[in-house]
Amino acid sequence: MTTIEEPAQIDGAKLEQFVFRAVDEVGATLNAALVVMGDKLGLYKALAGAGPLTPTELAERTGTAERYVREWLNQQAAGGYVEYDPETGRYTLPPEQTIALTDPDSPAYLPGFFQIALGSVLDSPRITEAARSGNGVGWHEHGHDVFDGCERFFRPGYNANLISGWLPALDGVVAKLERGAKVADVGCGHGSSTILMAKAFPNSTFVGSDYHEGSIATARKRAREAGLDDRVTFEVAPSSSFSGSGYDLVTMFDCLHDMGDPAGAARHVRSTLAADGTWMIVEPAAGDRVEDNLNPVGRAYYGFSTLLCTPASLSQDVGLALGAQAGEARIRDVVTSGGLTRFRRAAETPFNLVFEARP
Ligand SMILES: C[S@@+](CC[C@H](N)C(=O)[O-])C[C@H]1O[C@@H](n2cnc3c(N)ncnc32)[C@H](O)[C@@H]1O
Repeated sequence: MTTIEEPAQIDGAKLEQFVFRAVDEVGATLNAALVVMGDKLGLYKALAGAGPLTPTELAERTGTAERYVREWLNQQAAGGYVEYDPETGRYTLPPEQTIALTDPDSPAYLPGFFQIALGSVLDSPRITEAARSGNGVGWHEHGHDVFDGCERFFRPGYNANLISGWLPALDGVVAKLERGAKVADVGCGHGSSTILMAKAFPNSTFVGSDYHEGSIATARKRAREAGLDDRVTFEVAPSSSFSGSGYDLVTMFDCLHDMGDPAGAARHVRSTLAADGTWMIVEPAAGDRVEDNLNPVGRAYYGFSTLLCTPASLSQDVGLALGAQAGEARIRDVVTSGGLTRFRRAAETPFNLVFEARP
């Protein structure tokens, strides 16, 4: 029997509200490119602490073209990133924006966040095609802005939390690191977490690994530059077969959910851990249910998950595709399926959950 549906009643005010919200979002989408532009051209750095500048002065200081700089400044002023004084025609970067846009050591540092978002958007036509076929797109298939943006996005959070909060939240790990421990940092990307830990614990040795050759080449460069290549080595290896054994600590930062076979990775971690070793898993903050994650942080992470993490996992064997909002219950299942018997949430921030798993 055919049923005829009543036409839905349209609330004109709600429709208008939604369209106006979309105007804001289109502005925000374009803003990602303009923030990356300001970062790469040195516009924010030149504005920082310089007081009010005209477009001509900013262009002169950065070796850029005034007409572009003027338009960029107006867009930044419309978004509240810079302040405009109509009396003088000058633009100022307020002190809070100066920190967030120019200080890479601040936990509030934002350019990397925008860079990985823009890199993901630039690579999105491939994801649209993959969504038709169900095929994956590997992490290694992305452009430079995804790799570089990833490092610059995560590093401020690791700087702020890893040594002072996350490692001390693990049972007995800091004492071992201080005495001299063997550490494997798996899925290490450009190695910012590996290098941070190595600097803090000079008696310990570190092996960073990642399946992506290009990331490991950068990680090796970073270790050389930091003068740490005697205690920090990097290898190209998937999480199912990274080298070594008897590790006191295995770490995974924002990468378990990107792996095709996280349960296989868990089995391998178990086999490489010392009898009383610890596996620290840092994952994006998420609740177990979709409705727990329908908020601004969840929105950004579901976005990255659709464009980066889910396709990355689908490109690998098994292709479990946990997604960046997997939540504690699913992570626990995967980790304990690998033979780890103890699992707990050790720490959390608005952006991350930190788990401790032990044999
Ligand atoms: C979001 S990035 C995080 C990188 C780094 N841990 C960080 O926090 O900056 C995810 C990383 O997981 C790596 N990865 C994905 N699947 C992997 C696998 N099966 N084995 C090893 N690394 C993998 C990617 O190459 C990428 O470097």
